[in-house]
Amino acid sequence: EVAARAHIENILPVIKKSLKKIDYKKIDLISVTQGPGLITSLLVGLETAKTLSYAWKKPLMGVNHLNGHLAVNFIEHEIKNVFPAISLIVSGGHTELGLMKKSGSYKKIGQTRDDAAGECFDKIAKLLKIGYPGGPAVAHYATQSSIINHQSSINFPRPMIKTNDFDFSFSGLKTAVLYFVKKNKNKLEKKKFVQNICAESQQAIIDVLIHKTIKASKKYKAKSVFLSGGVAANQELREQLKLHICKLPNNVKFFVPSRNLCTDNAVMIAAAAALKFKNLTPIQKKKLKNNWQKIKVDPNLSL
Ligand code: KG4
Ligand code: ZN
Repeated sequence: EVAARAHIENILPVIKKSLKKIDYKKIDLISVTQGPGLITSLLVGLETAKTLSYAWKKPLMGVNHLNGHLAVNFIEHEIKNVFPAISLIVSGGHTELGLMKKSGSYKKIGQTRDDAAGECFDKIAKLLKIGYPGGPAVAHYATQSSIINHQSSINFPRPMIKTNDFDFSFSGLKTAVLYFVKKNKNKLEKKKFVQNICAESQQAIIDVLIHKTIKASKKYKAKSVFLSGGVAANQELREQLKLHICKLPNNVKFFVPSRNLCTDNAVMIAAAAALKFKNLTPIQKKKLKNNWQKIKVDPNLSL
C-alpha cells in the first residue's frame, strides 16, 4: 500500500500537468503498460488509464513494455525493407536478443541468465558510490578516463562471450568489479581509479552485447539491427555497435531511438499501441470500445 501510494503521488502531478494540455476529443486510443514490471507500478498505471478510458469513452490497449522500447524505433525512422531483423533490448530488467522475420513477428533467441546489463551498470555504480541510476554515472566517469582505445591495465571478464548461444550473464562481471574494488580499497578516493574502473566495466558490457548481436545478425542474415531500452542511451554502445554493423556485408541497417526515448517514457507505449491500432480492421477497432474492464496487468509478460 505504501508503494502504491508513492506511485500515485508521483503520477498525480504528471497527470494534472498533462490534462491541462490534452484535448481529449483529439485522442483515438489510450495505451498503458500491462507488463513486465513491478506489480504496484503496473496496477497504478492501469487503474489510471482505465479511469481515463471510462471518463473519456476512449478504447484502451494494453502494451508490453519491451514492445514499447522496440516500437519507438518505428516512429522515429522510416522502416522499409528491414526484415529479417535482429533486436537487442537492454534495460534495467532485461537483456534480450530477438529475431523478427517479418513485421509483427518476434522470437526471443537469447536473454540474460542472471542480471540485466542495466542492473550491472547500477550495481557497479553503487559499489563505486557514484550515484543512481548507475548507467549514466558510469558512462560519465568513463568519458573522463585516461584509458586510450579501450586498452586498459584493468581487465574484467567478458562473461559468456564465447558460448555457442545468444544468452548473456552479467553477475560475474559485477562480482569481479566488487573483488577488484575490495582489493584496492585505498584507491577508491582517487578519481582516476574510479574513472578507469568505469571505462573498463562499461567496455566489458559493451563487448559482450556487441559480440552476440553481431553473431546473431550473421547467423540470421539480418538486413537490420534494432537497439533499444534504457542502456541504448549509452553513447559508447551506440557508436561501437554502429561501427561493427557498418563492417558487415550487404549494408545492414542500424536503428536506435533518440537517447531521451531509450529510457522509459510514455511515447514508446503510445508508439507500440499506435502501430497495432493502425493495422486493425474497423470491426477490430470497434471491439476495442469498452474493453477497459478486460485488461489485466502481468508482471512477467514476455514479448
Ligand atoms: O528501460 P529503462 O529506462 O528501465 C527499465 O525498463 O529497466 O532502463 C533503465 C536502465 C538502468 O539500469 C540505467 O542505469 C540504464 O538503463 N541506463 C544506462 C544509461 N542510461 C540509462 N546505462 C548505460 N548508459 C547510459 N547512458
Ligand atoms: Zn524499460
